[in-house]
Amino acid sequence: MRIHQRLSAFLSICLLALLLGLQADPAQAHGKTNVEPKIGILLVTFGTSVPEARKAYATIESKVKAAYPGVELRWAYTSRQIRHKVATEEGLRNASPAGALGRMLDDGFTHVAVQSLHVIPGQEFNDLTAIVAAFGSMPKSFERIVLGPPLLSGPEAMQALAKAVLASVPGLGNREALVLVGHGTHHLASAFYPAMQYYLQQESERAFVGTIESSPSMQDVLADLAKRKIAKAYLVPFLTVAGDHARNDIAGNEPDSWKSQLKAKGIACQPVMRGLAEDPAVVDIWVDQLGLSLKALRDEPKDNG
Ligand code: CO
Repeated sequence: MRIHQRLSAFLSICLLALLLGLQADPAQAHGKTNVEPKIGILLVTFGTSVPEARKAYATIESKVKAAYPGVELRWAYTSRQIRHKVATEEGLRNASPAGALGRMLDDGFTHVAVQSLHVIPGQEFNDLTAIVAAFGSMPKSFERIVLGPPLLSGPEAMQALAKAVLASVPGLGNREALVLVGHGTHHLASAFYPAMQYYLQQESERAFVGTIESSPSMQDVLADLAKRKIAKAYLVPFLTVAGDHARNDIAGNEPDSWKSQLKAKGIACQPVMRGLAEDPAVVDIWVDQLGLSLKALRDEPKDNG
């Protein structure tokens, strides 16, 4: 009995010592470096040179901070031209996506959720994808980096967006229409604009999508409005922020603006000077997307051995 008791006491001490030893240096026991995970968010947008339009960014920032408290948030502008203009005119330096990520690496971030605040997965998003992939594969980089898609990422997002945009204007009467005016692109993602019109028209037959620079064009939209004998249109920028394009190309007083051209056809026009990022219901789509990315960062198995 006594021998058994001593042996069992001895074994208990050995086990305890072993456990304490493992606890003292779990990193070494698992063959990993002992780096505390540091998670960050990088919000990436095209950028705007219109200071007042930047209030849209404040809306996003406050919603993201409220949804994911304690996670540090940074910004980057994809447009080099806008970064340059804002730097020379206002003395404000904005980071490029690569610059911001390099800085986050230096500041000890280990896990980063990059969120595109673009509208369609066009050229800007394409470039961002390549930058994130480069950071994901280079040596001594983040342990993990994920990229969230832009607003029009698929059918569910487009359905949610259609509902949000229609809810942002008064109920449409028989001869009233909603016209979403997007930027337009020659990138193959141009097809997202007519796709968006399809989902909008599931909600309202008098909702149309046009673009400033490509297809569907203003002429396409004017033809649709004439066919439906529309007398009044709400012009809503299909842009992240209501910057230069919204103020001039859509709602400007120049004869070639959307507002002027619709008026010339006898259609009363009510421009809505608000970027998508100022609409809380739209911002929720981006915020939810970010939630999926943060979950993906945290769910990643930390160790295979
Ligand atoms: Co432009």
